[in-house]
Amino acid sequence: MEVIRAKTAGFCFGVRRAVDTVYEQLGKKEQKKIYTYGPIIHNAEVVKDMEKKGVVVLQSEEELDALTEGIVIIRSHGIEKRIHEKLSKRNITVVDATCPFVKKIHRIVERESAQGKYIIIIGNPEHPEVKGIKGWAGKESAVIQNAADIEKLSVEKGKKICIVAQTTFNYNKFKDLVEIISEKSYDVSVLNTICNATKERQTEARSIAEAVDAMIVIGDKHSSNTQKLFEICNRACKDTYYIQTLDDLDLNQLGSVETVGITAGASTPNNIIEEVQNNVRIIF
Ligand code: F3S
Repeated sequence: MEVIRAKTAGFCFGVRRAVDTVYEQLGKKEQKKIYTYGPIIHNAEVVKDMEKKGVVVLQSEEELDALTEGIVIIRSHGIEKRIHEKLSKRNITVVDATCPFVKKIHRIVERESAQGKYIIIIGNPEHPEVKGIKGWAGKESAVIQNAADIEKLSVEKGKKICIVAQTTFNYNKFKDLVEIISEKSYDVSVLNTICNATKERQTEARSIAEAVDAMIVIGDKHSSNTQKLFEICNRACKDTYYIQTLDDLDLNQLGSVETVGITAGASTPNNIIEEVQNNVRIIF
Protein backbone atom coordinates (compact mmCIF):
# COMPACT_ATOMS: atom_id res chain seq x y z
CA MET A 1 0.00 0.00 0.00
CA GLU A 2 1.21 3.43 -0.91
CA VAL A 3 0.80 6.53 1.25
CA ILE A 4 1.18 9.89 -0.46
CA ARG A 5 1.63 12.86 1.82
CA ALA A 6 1.11 16.29 0.28
CA LYS A 7 4.25 18.43 0.41
CA THR A 8 2.08 21.44 1.22
CA ALA A 9 0.29 19.75 4.15
CA GLY A 10 0.33 21.64 7.42
CA PHE A 11 1.51 25.00 8.72
CA CYS A 12 1.81 27.81 6.23
CA PHE A 13 4.34 30.60 6.69
CA GLY A 14 1.95 32.91 8.55
CA VAL A 15 0.72 30.30 10.98
CA ARG A 16 4.25 29.02 11.70
CA ARG A 17 5.30 32.62 12.39
CA ALA A 18 2.36 33.22 14.77
CA VAL A 19 2.90 29.97 16.67
CA ASP A 20 6.66 30.63 16.93
CA THR A 21 5.91 34.13 18.23
CA VAL A 22 3.93 32.71 21.16
CA TYR A 23 6.66 30.19 22.06
CA GLU A 24 9.33 32.91 21.74
CA GLN A 25 7.42 35.09 24.19
CA LEU A 26 7.00 32.13 26.54
CA GLY A 27 10.76 31.58 26.44
CA LYS A 28 11.63 35.12 27.53
CA LYS A 29 13.16 35.59 30.96
CA GLU A 30 11.26 38.66 32.12
CA GLN A 31 7.94 37.02 32.20
CA LYS A 32 4.77 39.02 31.88
CA LYS A 33 1.43 37.30 31.52
CA ILE A 34 0.86 36.35 27.88
CA TYR A 35 -2.52 36.63 26.22
CA THR A 36 -3.63 35.88 22.70
CA TYR A 37 -6.59 37.74 21.30
CA GLY A 38 -8.63 34.74 20.24
CA PRO A 39 -6.99 31.34 19.76
CA ILE A 40 -3.66 31.94 17.99
CA ILE A 41 -4.62 29.43 15.32
CA HIS A 42 -7.62 27.24 14.58
CA ASN A 43 -6.15 24.17 16.14
CA ALA A 44 -7.38 22.94 19.50
CA GLU A 45 -4.28 20.75 20.13
CA VAL A 46 -1.82 23.63 19.70
CA VAL A 47 -3.94 26.02 21.76
CA LYS A 48 -4.25 23.46 24.57
CA ASP A 49 -0.45 23.11 24.71
CA MET A 50 -0.02 26.88 24.94
CA GLU A 51 -2.62 27.14 27.71
CA LYS A 52 -0.76 24.46 29.66
CA LYS A 53 2.32 26.68 29.46
CA GLY A 54 0.42 29.65 30.85
CA VAL A 55 -0.99 31.46 27.82
CA VAL A 56 -4.47 32.85 28.33
CA VAL A 57 -6.81 33.06 25.36
CA LEU A 58 -8.97 36.18 25.42
CA GLN A 59 -12.33 35.22 23.98
CA SER A 60 -13.94 38.62 23.51
CA GLU A 61 -13.30 42.31 23.12
CA GLU A 62 -14.72 42.81 26.62
CA GLU A 63 -12.01 40.55 28.03
CA LEU A 64 -9.41 42.52 26.08
CA ASP A 65 -10.80 45.80 27.41
CA ALA A 66 -10.61 44.49 30.97
CA LEU A 67 -6.84 43.85 30.78
CA THR A 68 -4.62 46.20 32.73
CA GLU A 69 -1.20 44.77 31.89
CA GLY A 70 0.63 41.96 30.12
CA ILE A 71 1.49 41.01 26.57
CA VAL A 72 -1.21 40.61 23.96
CA ILE A 73 -0.29 38.62 20.88
CA ILE A 74 -2.33 39.31 17.77
CA ARG A 75 -2.91 36.16 15.75
CA SER A 76 -2.20 35.62 12.05
CA HIS A 77 -5.76 36.60 11.07
CA GLY A 78 -5.12 40.17 12.21
CA ILE A 79 -7.51 42.60 13.89
CA GLU A 80 -9.55 45.69 13.07
CA LYS A 81 -7.85 49.09 12.97
CA ARG A 82 -10.14 50.31 15.75
CA ILE A 83 -8.86 47.62 18.13
CA HIS A 84 -5.25 48.32 17.17
CA GLU A 85 -5.72 51.98 18.01
CA LYS A 86 -7.43 51.16 21.27
CA LEU A 87 -4.60 48.84 22.33
CA SER A 88 -1.86 51.32 21.48
CA LYS A 89 -3.29 53.75 24.05
CA ARG A 90 -3.03 51.24 26.89
CA ASN A 91 -0.33 49.99 29.22
CA ILE A 92 -0.18 46.71 27.32
CA THR A 93 2.60 45.31 25.14
CA VAL A 94 1.24 44.37 21.75
CA VAL A 95 3.08 41.73 19.74
CA ASP A 96 1.58 41.69 16.29
CA ALA A 97 1.78 38.26 14.63
CA THR A 98 -0.66 39.19 11.86
CA CYS A 99 0.46 37.34 8.73
CA PRO A 100 2.29 39.83 6.46
CA PHE A 101 -0.02 38.82 3.59
CA VAL A 102 -3.06 39.78 5.65
CA LYS A 103 -1.33 42.98 6.76
CA LYS A 104 -0.85 43.79 3.08
CA ILE A 105 -4.63 43.55 2.53
CA HIS A 106 -5.17 45.94 5.46
CA ARG A 107 -2.86 48.44 3.78
CA ILE A 108 -4.55 47.99 0.38
CA VAL A 109 -8.09 48.52 1.62
CA GLU A 110 -7.08 51.45 3.81
CA ARG A 111 -5.31 53.14 0.88
CA GLU A 112 -8.02 52.43 -1.71
CA SER A 113 -10.78 53.51 0.61
CA ALA A 114 -8.88 56.77 1.33
CA GLN A 115 -8.95 57.30 -2.45
CA GLY A 116 -12.75 57.19 -2.33
CA LYS A 117 -13.25 53.65 -3.56
CA TYR A 118 -15.93 51.32 -2.30
CA ILE A 119 -14.27 48.16 -0.97
CA ILE A 120 -15.71 44.72 -1.63
CA ILE A 121 -14.18 41.89 0.36
CA ILE A 122 -14.96 38.46 -1.04
CA GLY A 123 -14.96 36.09 1.90
CA ASN A 124 -16.85 34.71 4.86
CA PRO A 125 -18.21 37.66 6.90
CA GLU A 126 -17.99 35.62 10.10
CA HIS A 127 -14.29 34.81 9.70
CA PRO A 128 -11.99 36.83 12.00
CA GLU A 129 -9.63 37.63 9.14
CA VAL A 130 -12.49 39.14 7.13
CA LYS A 131 -13.79 41.07 10.14
CA GLY A 132 -10.27 42.46 10.58
CA ILE A 133 -9.97 43.48 6.90
CA LYS A 134 -13.42 45.10 7.02
CA GLY A 135 -12.20 47.09 9.98
CA TRP A 136 -9.48 48.69 7.81
CA ALA A 137 -11.78 49.28 4.84
CA GLY A 138 -13.93 52.02 6.35
CA LYS A 139 -17.71 52.44 6.16
CA GLU A 140 -17.89 52.31 2.35
CA SER A 141 -17.33 48.57 2.19
CA ALA A 142 -19.12 45.25 2.09
CA VAL A 143 -18.35 41.57 2.49
CA ILE A 144 -19.83 39.20 -0.07
CA GLN A 145 -19.54 35.45 -0.37
CA ASN A 146 -22.07 34.51 -3.06
CA ALA A 147 -24.00 35.88 -6.04
CA ALA A 148 -27.06 36.72 -3.90
CA ASP A 149 -24.91 39.05 -1.77
CA ILE A 150 -23.94 40.99 -4.90
CA GLU A 151 -27.61 41.71 -5.66
CA LYS A 152 -27.99 43.18 -2.18
CA LEU A 153 -25.20 45.74 -2.72
CA SER A 154 -26.39 49.33 -2.71
CA VAL A 155 -23.59 51.07 -4.58
CA GLU A 156 -24.39 53.76 -7.14
CA LYS A 157 -23.58 53.07 -10.81
CA GLY A 158 -20.17 54.24 -11.99
CA LYS A 159 -18.71 54.12 -8.48
CA LYS A 160 -15.07 53.08 -8.23
CA ILE A 161 -14.87 49.71 -6.58
CA CYS A 162 -11.87 47.81 -5.27
CA ILE A 163 -12.25 44.06 -4.80
CA VAL A 164 -10.03 41.99 -2.52
CA ALA A 165 -10.35 38.43 -1.21
CA GLN A 166 -10.04 36.60 2.08
CA THR A 167 -6.62 34.92 1.82
CA THR A 168 -8.11 31.42 2.05
CA PHE A 169 -10.98 31.95 -0.41
CA ASN A 170 -11.45 29.45 -3.24
CA TYR A 171 -9.90 30.94 -6.38
CA ASN A 172 -12.56 29.68 -8.84
CA LYS A 173 -15.41 31.04 -6.73
CA PHE A 174 -13.53 34.34 -6.43
CA LYS A 175 -13.16 34.53 -10.22
CA ASP A 176 -16.88 33.81 -10.75
CA LEU A 177 -17.96 36.47 -8.26
CA VAL A 178 -15.56 39.04 -9.73
CA GLU A 179 -17.05 38.32 -13.15
CA ILE A 180 -20.59 38.96 -11.90
CA ILE A 181 -19.54 42.24 -10.24
CA SER A 182 -17.64 43.31 -13.38
CA GLU A 183 -20.81 42.93 -15.46
CA LYS A 184 -22.50 45.62 -13.35
CA SER A 185 -21.90 49.24 -14.23
CA TYR A 186 -19.11 49.88 -11.80
CA ASP A 187 -15.53 50.99 -12.31
CA VAL A 188 -13.88 47.88 -10.91
CA SER A 189 -10.29 47.20 -9.90
CA VAL A 190 -9.48 43.72 -8.67
CA LEU A 191 -6.65 42.68 -6.38
CA ASN A 192 -6.39 38.95 -6.02
CA THR A 193 -5.24 38.65 -2.43
CA ILE A 194 -5.75 34.89 -2.14
CA CYS A 195 -2.63 33.49 -0.57
CA ASN A 196 -0.43 31.25 -2.72
CA ALA A 197 -0.01 28.82 0.17
CA THR A 198 -3.74 28.12 -0.01
CA LYS A 199 -3.83 27.80 -3.78
CA GLU A 200 -0.84 25.46 -3.83
CA ARG A 201 -2.25 23.35 -1.02
CA GLN A 202 -5.63 23.11 -2.80
CA THR A 203 -4.10 22.25 -6.19
CA GLU A 204 -1.85 19.57 -4.74
CA ALA A 205 -4.68 18.13 -2.62
CA ARG A 206 -6.95 17.91 -5.67
CA SER A 207 -4.38 16.11 -7.80
CA ILE A 208 -3.53 13.63 -5.01
CA ALA A 209 -7.23 13.03 -4.26
CA GLU A 210 -7.86 12.30 -7.95
CA ALA A 211 -5.14 9.65 -7.95
CA VAL A 212 -5.76 7.75 -4.69
CA ASP A 213 -8.38 5.30 -3.38
CA ALA A 214 -8.83 7.11 -0.06
CA MET A 215 -7.93 10.59 1.09
CA ILE A 216 -7.40 11.91 4.62
CA VAL A 217 -7.72 15.61 5.38
CA ILE A 218 -6.37 16.60 8.79
CA GLY A 219 -7.33 19.81 10.53
CA ASP A 220 -9.48 21.48 13.12
CA LYS A 221 -13.22 21.43 12.41
CA HIS A 222 -13.27 25.23 12.80
CA SER A 223 -10.48 25.84 10.31
CA SER A 224 -12.05 27.30 7.18
CA ASN A 225 -9.10 26.42 4.96
CA THR A 226 -9.29 22.79 6.12
CA GLN A 227 -13.03 22.71 5.44
CA LYS A 228 -12.37 23.93 1.89
CA LEU A 229 -9.60 21.39 1.47
CA PHE A 230 -12.05 18.68 2.49
CA GLU A 231 -14.66 19.93 -0.03
CA ILE A 232 -12.08 19.83 -2.82
CA CYS A 233 -10.79 16.37 -1.92
CA ASN A 234 -14.27 14.97 -1.39
CA ARG A 235 -15.27 16.05 -4.88
CA ALA A 236 -12.25 14.29 -6.36
CA CYS A 237 -12.31 11.18 -4.12
CA LYS A 238 -15.51 9.76 -2.59
CA ASP A 239 -13.54 8.07 0.18
CA THR A 240 -12.36 11.24 1.89
CA TYR A 241 -12.07 11.52 5.69
CA TYR A 242 -11.94 14.76 7.66
CA ILE A 243 -10.14 14.18 10.95
CA GLN A 244 -8.67 16.39 13.68
CA THR A 245 -6.29 13.77 15.03
CA LEU A 246 -5.57 10.09 14.51
CA ASP A 247 -8.30 9.23 17.06
CA ASP A 248 -11.01 10.44 14.66
CA LEU A 249 -10.11 7.97 11.95
CA ASP A 250 -13.05 5.57 11.93
CA LEU A 251 -11.55 2.18 11.24
CA ASN A 252 -14.90 0.53 10.45
CA GLN A 253 -15.56 2.91 7.57
CA LEU A 254 -12.35 2.09 5.79
CA GLY A 255 -12.39 -0.53 3.07
CA SER A 256 -9.35 -2.16 1.56
CA VAL A 257 -7.42 0.41 -0.44
CA GLU A 258 -4.12 0.45 -2.26
CA THR A 259 -3.31 4.14 -2.19
CA VAL A 260 -4.01 6.72 0.50
CA GLY A 261 -3.41 10.44 0.22
CA ILE A 262 -2.84 12.74 3.21
CA THR A 263 -3.11 16.48 3.35
CA ALA A 264 -3.68 18.96 6.17
CA GLY A 265 -4.88 22.50 6.71
CA ALA A 266 -2.63 25.47 7.38
CA SER A 267 -3.09 25.21 11.12
CA THR A 268 -2.31 21.53 11.55
CA PRO A 269 0.98 20.87 13.36
CA ASN A 270 3.50 18.50 11.84
CA ASN A 271 3.45 16.03 14.74
CA ILE A 272 -0.28 15.36 14.18
CA ILE A 273 0.28 14.80 10.43
CA GLU A 274 3.20 12.48 11.14
CA GLU A 275 1.23 10.47 13.65
CA VAL A 276 -1.51 9.88 11.09
CA GLN A 277 1.03 9.12 8.36
CA ASN A 278 2.89 6.60 10.53
CA ASN A 279 -0.26 4.83 11.66
CA VAL A 280 -2.14 4.81 8.41
CA ARG A 281 -0.26 1.78 7.08
CA ILE A 282 -1.22 -0.24 10.14
CA ILE A 283 -4.86 0.86 9.93
CA PHE A 284 -5.35 0.20 6.24
FE1 F3S B 1 -0.66 33.94 5.76
FE2 F3S B 1 -1.30 32.59 3.66
FE3 F3S B 1 -0.99 31.41 5.88
S1 F3S B 1 -2.15 34.53 4.27
S2 F3S B 1 -1.56 32.87 7.44
S3 F3S B 1 0.63 32.45 4.75
S4 F3S B 1 -2.54 30.93 4.39
